[in-house]
Amino acid sequence: MTNIPLKIALGADHGGFKLKDVLVTWLRAQGHDVHDFGTNSADSVDYPDYAHIVCDAVLSGNAHYGVLVCGTGLGMSYAANRHAGIRCALVSETTSARLAREHNNANMLALGGRMIGEEMGIDILRVFLATAYEGGRHDRRIAKIQPKFQPNVKGEP
Ligand code: RB5
Repeated sequence: MTNIPLKIALGADHGGFKLKDVLVTWLRAQGHDVHDFGTNSADSVDYPDYAHIVCDAVLSGNAHYGVLVCGTGLGMSYAANRHAGIRCALVSETTSARLAREHNNANMLALGGRMIGEEMGIDILRVFLATAYEGGRHDRRIAKIQPKFQPNVKGEP
């Protein structure tokens, strides 16, 4: 999708807020409509709180895409992908960013603020936003991404 402005929601924890701020600045410079849900400091916070807020923005239609940044991107991606209708791609290079859109119709990105540099983060986001979903055979496969088991509320293996 290349229409501008896109509505983009971003969230981060203390391990990701620096890269998130870089992405916010870049997105605004590109003319996008940015909703920055924080966090905005190195004070320790819990990444799921931010993941869920950004997912809600995407699922409600208030944002076209969501971007989450924590230290590794892992916790953010786990939390986001618990939401039905969210397909959050944890990406550290641009080929996966392109394929996440072309094949998986990803609507969210998770990035590791302690794993990748600012330039790679911007490149990943640029490619992600510029790439269209291919549809076709991928529709069938995405439709098969469904919860398979009851959640284990006790958190046991
Ligand atoms: C915070 O220390 C760290 O655990 C978090 O940013 C993230 O990497 C979790 O997946």
